[in-house]
Amino acid sequence: MVKAVRGMRDILPEQTRRWHQVERSILATLASHAFEEIRLPLLEYTELFARGVGEATDIVEKEMYTLADRDGDSLSLRPEGTASCVRALQEHGLLYNQTQRVHYSGPMFRYEKPQKGRYRQFYQIGAEAYGFAGPDMDAELLLLAWDCWHALGIQDRLRLEINTLGSSKDRAAYRDALVAYLEPIQGQLDEDSQRRLLTNPMRILDSKKPETQALLEGAPRLPDFVDAESREHFEKLQQLLDQVGIPYRVNANLVRGLDYYTRTVFEWLTDDLGAQGAVCAGGRYDGLVERLGGRPTPAVGFAVGLDRVVLLHELAEPKTAFAPADIYICVLDESLMGTAMALSQRLRSHLEGQRIRINIGGGALKKQMKRADAAQANWAILLGDDERDLGSLTLKHLRNAEFGQQRLVWQQALDQLND
Ligand code: HAM
Repeated sequence: MVKAVRGMRDILPEQTRRWHQVERSILATLASHAFEEIRLPLLEYTELFARGVGEATDIVEKEMYTLADRDGDSLSLRPEGTASCVRALQEHGLLYNQTQRVHYSGPMFRYEKPQKGRYRQFYQIGAEAYGFAGPDMDAELLLLAWDCWHALGIQDRLRLEINTLGSSKDRAAYRDALVAYLEPIQGQLDEDSQRRLLTNPMRILDSKKPETQALLEGAPRLPDFVDAESREHFEKLQQLLDQVGIPYRVNANLVRGLDYYTRTVFEWLTDDLGAQGAVCAGGRYDGLVERLGGRPTPAVGFAVGLDRVVLLHELAEPKTAFAPADIYICVLDESLMGTAMALSQRLRSHLEGQRIRINIGGGALKKQMKRADAAQANWAILLGDDERDLGSLTLKHLRNAEFGQQRLVWQQALDQLND
């Protein structure tokens, strides 16, 4: 039997209800902040991510699913959405001289070591804003995320960490200073950090290894390299967060694993999911549009890791009863199947959102009632010869013995089912 690819999960019907609930809630919050949806392809030219996310990042260096198409072009399954989003808006002339607030969602692919909360196909909902240079948009995005957590009831499980990386010039100067400090002691660094020293030295600050953290104690500090304008931007952001009442902590070691960030970066973290603490992350990336061939355009955004949000939602609300159907139509005579189907259509047009299942596959009434019970329906409708014209219906409440079984005229039956 062929199995699913490692790190690529099936999300089964019992789970998809929760997924819908979480997705609907986040999409409603995005709409309430007047963000509009953009749909992006799963495959892009590999070059987009190499230039956008950065050649030296873990993502591009060792995590992409890259393939050659029949023309020999190198394509990659998207490891994230931001580069594609810039590519699409730029390609359609939607960036220059205007502002955009968009969101996207769907699967992303990274060849990472799978574990709980970390998959090779995972899902994000991202929000990006273009054309807004000020810290007010950074704050608006953090408020948007904050509203998402509240709507989902997981706000107490998350904390916000923020930092500023300064301009790309500041960042480059800091990188050089950090390398100059670490090079003489590189032999003492852990293996991962030694590799990063050559490729992406700022990620060493992220290291979880205590020995490496100890070595970093005397290292140059990023805040000392941040220019006055970026510092002011960061201070204004903090003032806004204070005014709105969003708690946060400044973490000078927060650098993020993607190359495109400038100024503000942030992560929403949890302690409830073991090693996979980051549930949502993002920041400002004012240089990316230009890097991908457009005119300089300020940009800021974030992506929610849906797999992790769903896990948190499960902790917050462990039991959501999974009932496959609300109403079960028992068909007492085979010749009534056409009538049952007509009935189900009429009911669907009158009862919004209720899931109606017709008994398929025949069987005696007792067997059909057993199936109604297994579907955890609230109501069974017993469709017999007397109800052929649908002027009346026999309803049986499967959870309320007091109601029992009653034959009601059409409108009364509808009122009951709607209740
Ligand atoms: P990222 O930090 O790479 O940022 O991913 C954002 C979130 O996606 C993470 O915080 C995490 O919750 C989730 N995530 C990442 N990798 C995995 C995985 N292997 N399994 C499960 N969940 C995962 C970005 O992708 C940027 N594009 C965010 C952004 C948008 N920055 C500006 N705009």
